[in-house]
Amino acid sequence: MTMNNSYALITGASSGIGAEIAKKLAKKGYNLVLTARRTELLENLANEIKQKHNINVDLISKDLSKYEAPKEIFDFCEENNYSVDFLVNNAGYGIKTSFHETSLEDEEDFIRVLGTSVIMMTKLFLPKMIKKGNGKIMIVSSVASFAAPSAIQPLYGPIKTFMNRFSDSININYKHKGVTSTAVCPGFTTTGFHTASGVQEQMDRVPKFLVFTAERVADEAIEATLSGQRLCVPTKTYKFLVFMIRNMPQWILSLLGKILAPGRYNQ
Ligand SMILES: NC(=O)c1ccc[n+]([C@@H]2O[C@H](COP(=O)([O-])OP(=O)(O)OC[C@H]3O[C@@H](n4cnc5c(N)ncnc54)[C@H](OP(=O)(O)O)[C@@H]3O)[C@@H](O)[C@H]2O)c1
Repeated sequence: MTMNNSYALITGASSGIGAEIAKKLAKKGYNLVLTARRTELLENLANEIKQKHNINVDLISKDLSKYEAPKEIFDFCEENNYSVDFLVNNAGYGIKTSFHETSLEDEEDFIRVLGTSVIMMTKLFLPKMIKKGNGKIMIVSSVASFAAPSAIQPLYGPIKTFMNRFSDSININYKHKGVTSTAVCPGFTTTGFHTASGVQEQMDRVPKFLVFTAERVADEAIEATLSGQRLCVPTKTYKFLVFMIRNMPQWILSLLGKILAPGRYNQ
């Protein structure tokens, strides 16, 4: 265990992009606080990382759909004197059930995990970052924030768009105080996301040239966040696609969506 009390905190660290980010930040020498709901996966990852790197790794299992979770995570860091200089807001999922069939609670939980908890975590950890004049915030958003409205998960894209704007605002307001925020917008990435969201079948139909590894996404996301970029779209393929999306009429966008991600854009 190192004596350094500077930490990176990663939400959604139990699998996929979050787990890869954890491994890569450990390699860079960051102490880690890992959080997600599945304790056993967090423990396995913590052990794997500790065997390879001389850093401190701690974990706290929390469900970010619960209002009190961000404050409990913050308090855990305070009690242990972990100074969080790198905050990764990564936890997320998708809802397979059609919007008219979900419960109000389902949608509220969704907004809380992907949106409200991100704002709360950022708000809680920001003041100390400002005080230190040093802080990196990463918000894992999605290419869906730029894409045409999706037939599945109607709230997913809009919340991610909101998160991009939120990240931008934090960045503009606090970069002169040494705190930057980066919205990371991955495209299709091989993780537990599609199985967890019940859309693995649609994912399997996405052309292979549009699917990248979590490792690749994590690499680009970390470098962009460390250099204080406001927006990161990992891979040249998605950089090009996002450029096109932003400059394309909506009807072409919807048509491309139907061709490239069948089942997702079927209106
Ligand atoms: N995979 C893609 O194609 C893709 C594309 C663009 C953007 N993204 C974004 O990337 C981020 C990471 O997703 P991923 O692809 O790595 O998927 P993943 O492998 O399913 O990982 C999602 C992580 O979020 C955590 N999580 C989910 N619900 C949670 C809750 N209620 N409370 C606390 N943690 C929760 C999960 O942990 P537990 O289940 O253990 O709680 C897991 O660690 C998400 O924000 C997603 O929207 C993914």
